[in-house]
Amino acid sequence: MATAHVGGYRPGLVDLKTGQISREIFVNEDIYAEEQERVFARAWLYVGHESQVPNPGDFFVSGMGEESVILTRDRAGQVRVFLNSCRHRGMKVCRYDEGNTTVFTCPYHGWSYGTDGRLVGVPYFREAYHSQLDRLQWGLVEVAQTCVHKGTVWATWDKDAPPFLEYLGDFARYLDQMFDSWDGSDGGTEILGGVQKWLVPSNWKFPAENFSGDSYHNISHRSVDMVGAGPSGSGRRDMPELNLARKLHIAIPDRGHQTTAYLLPREVEVPAGYQHSPVVSDYFKKCEEARRQQRGDWGRLITLVGEVFPSMAFLARQPRTIAVWHPRGPHQTEVWRWFLVDKNAPQDVKNFLRDYYIRYSGPAGMTEQDDMENWGYAHKASRGTIARRYSYSYEQGMGTEVDNYEWEGFSLPGSVTDLTQAKSSEHNLRNLYRRWAEFMEASDWDELASWRRAQRAAAE
Ligand code: FES
Ligand SMILES: [Fe+2]
Repeated sequence: MATAHVGGYRPGLVDLKTGQISREIFVNEDIYAEEQERVFARAWLYVGHESQVPNPGDFFVSGMGEESVILTRDRAGQVRVFLNSCRHRGMKVCRYDEGNTTVFTCPYHGWSYGTDGRLVGVPYFREAYHSQLDRLQWGLVEVAQTCVHKGTVWATWDKDAPPFLEYLGDFARYLDQMFDSWDGSDGGTEILGGVQKWLVPSNWKFPAENFSGDSYHNISHRSVDMVGAGPSGSGRRDMPELNLARKLHIAIPDRGHQTTAYLLPREVEVPAGYQHSPVVSDYFKKCEEARRQQRGDWGRLITLVGEVFPSMAFLARQPRTIAVWHPRGPHQTEVWRWFLVDKNAPQDVKNFLRDYYIRYSGPAGMTEQDDMENWGYAHKASRGTIARRYSYSYEQGMGTEVDNYEWEGFSLPGSVTDLTQAKSSEHNLRNLYRRWAEFMEASDWDELASWRRAQRAAAE
């Protein structure tokens, strides 16, 4: 039995040798405060999609960890991300969810900022400040780095963080399965409809581990499978061809990203789905043919679900969606969900998908409210003085992952567990928490970017 822990993080709370993780990392307030500093202030975080700010002056208010941020396109057309807090007394400068503006005017005393963040207006600048205030020094706080990757916008507060693509490492190949156009064009993607936002009464790591690859929780969704809410109308993922595929957990060990994917045999066509709507079914059939032609072996890989460390998750098939787990204290998470669609998809298809996505996902979606019930009750039942003495078990499938997984001549980057026989493994979850512990323990990015040390050592 683990002893009760008072105080903040310490090594050993995540013990991957025994496969045990202390409940403290979910419920402890000191650890929560530390992870804001050590994880959320240093990692790359998903902010939004370029299609939300197509024109100069467009803005979308997003979040990074606990901070409110403004994603905007400045007059020169550049995508920028600013802390949504006035430099004078901290007021939330922009209180709208989205819109278009030439300046952000603070509602408290009226300082105003350009879309490039510069302080451009100070009431009584001459009279009250005697023209002495150095306006150049008092612009909005900007993130240290921004990256637009295939339409998605990412940012970090840490100037020492590696560039975003290096942060992704080999995971980019898996993630791009979702971000690249599916129809074979280079039209890109756009956000379908608005962003869903809701609160869940659990620590943010419950949804993060669920999307990292909790292949074990099918019982949670049994009721949905019974009523048949899937794209074909008779099951959540009713694609018999998948029975011929390898089901894989894939983790990028030194980065903390992970996904669950199917790898289809060469001779099997990818099923189109949505058989009840011929227009949509035909559209996806064409998309799948294009994917196969353009992507070679990667076209046989169907990425289902995954997590970019720490708090961005995705479903890469149907629905095709991005989620962010915004921490709101140790005991609460604000979930935001974006839905993606190919920009060039016919309007009929977009309309159909919007209805289907809302039915499937989100606070009223048939497969998400059941998950949330589990996270909320699990969290609550773990908070007590007695409960938190007992670690959780993450022992499933320990040691079964391989580094150079290959099937039918296609070798996949990352550390892979083949679930085809085993059905489930907690390999991806361990990968998430290994990285989380590294962030909690490392003093800077030099330590966190272990792959650079390995490269340097190899070069010497
Ligand atoms: S807080 Fe914004 S102008 Fe005073
Ligand atoms: Fe689920």
